[in-house]
Amino acid sequence: MVFDHAHLLGIEPLSQGDITTILDLADQYADLNRRDVKHSDALAGLTQINMFFENSTRTQASFELAGKRLGADVMNMAMQASSIKKGETLIDTAMTLNAMHPDLLVVRHPQSGAVDLLAQKVNCAVLNAGDGRHEHPTQALLDALTIRRAKGRLHRLNIAICGDIAHSRVARSNIILLGKMENRIRLVGPPTLMPSGIDAFGVEVYDNMEEGLRDVDVVMMLRLQRERMDGGFIPSEREYYFRYGLDAEKLSFASPEAIVMHPGPMNRGVEIDGEIADDINRSVIQEQVEMGVAVRMAAMDLLARNLRARAAGNGEVMA
Ligand code: NCD
Repeated sequence: MVFDHAHLLGIEPLSQGDITTILDLADQYADLNRRDVKHSDALAGLTQINMFFENSTRTQASFELAGKRLGADVMNMAMQASSIKKGETLIDTAMTLNAMHPDLLVVRHPQSGAVDLLAQKVNCAVLNAGDGRHEHPTQALLDALTIRRAKGRLHRLNIAICGDIAHSRVARSNIILLGKMENRIRLVGPPTLMPSGIDAFGVEVYDNMEEGLRDVDVVMMLRLQRERMDGGFIPSEREYYFRYGLDAEKLSFASPEAIVMHPGPMNRGVEIDGEIADDINRSVIQEQVEMGVAVRMAAMDLLARNLRARAAGNGEVMA
């Protein structure tokens, strides 16, 4: 299977085959990451720059580790402290970095579409590490890999995505990916936290956990994204937890083998009970973090192969 993309900007442009190609390679990297010596030279000689215009702990660390394990020279730009504070535009910053000849640019930005715009201006491979409410492709891919390893397949599963869907790029990328792989998706949460135009997504919508979780194979919880809310989306955190927070009672409506997921960072006692999050028999939250490194290694490796093919003058590479 050929992965012929120049960038990883979202799940939208990917085919079923592309997704499977990334996950299959990521499985191999997951094995490598469990060995004593975790090095490969897939990115040797290449430069990776991480530009995070929004706070991030695990995603930035994960991309950094992924690049280092593959032998790239990795640099983190502290964007809060850089010229952006002096009013330099996104494009100017990108052009400056472009002049340093990076091969891989990993970008997180608070505005939807900003990463696509940037990809049109630079000569390297761009990976979207989350843009506004738009997409977060590597998160959806690591979630998919975690599900595939736990359930043995990534199709014909009943998957509930719960909570603050409206503000979540994680939800959006997951809905697209899991839909492409032919799963049944339910969105569960208060109507105020459902995005408009949800009918076009081909999902079922529930505003109560008992019905929404009934017999599902996967329960994916989302963080209440307060920083993206500008008004009264929920009555109170206590009320929210009572109605939509995942606790043992609500989880009992799901299939007895259902796994519990959360992209992090978690608000314990708001969208999820701490004990459920830590229950190694149900929660795969740690595996998600582990698979994150493997998926990012796979994505950067595939993009780097295309960079090299292009440099060698063979191979048509799509955007
Ligand atoms: C998510 C994000 O940044 O979109 N976190 C992450 O990448 N691990 C979800 C969130 O912030 O709630």
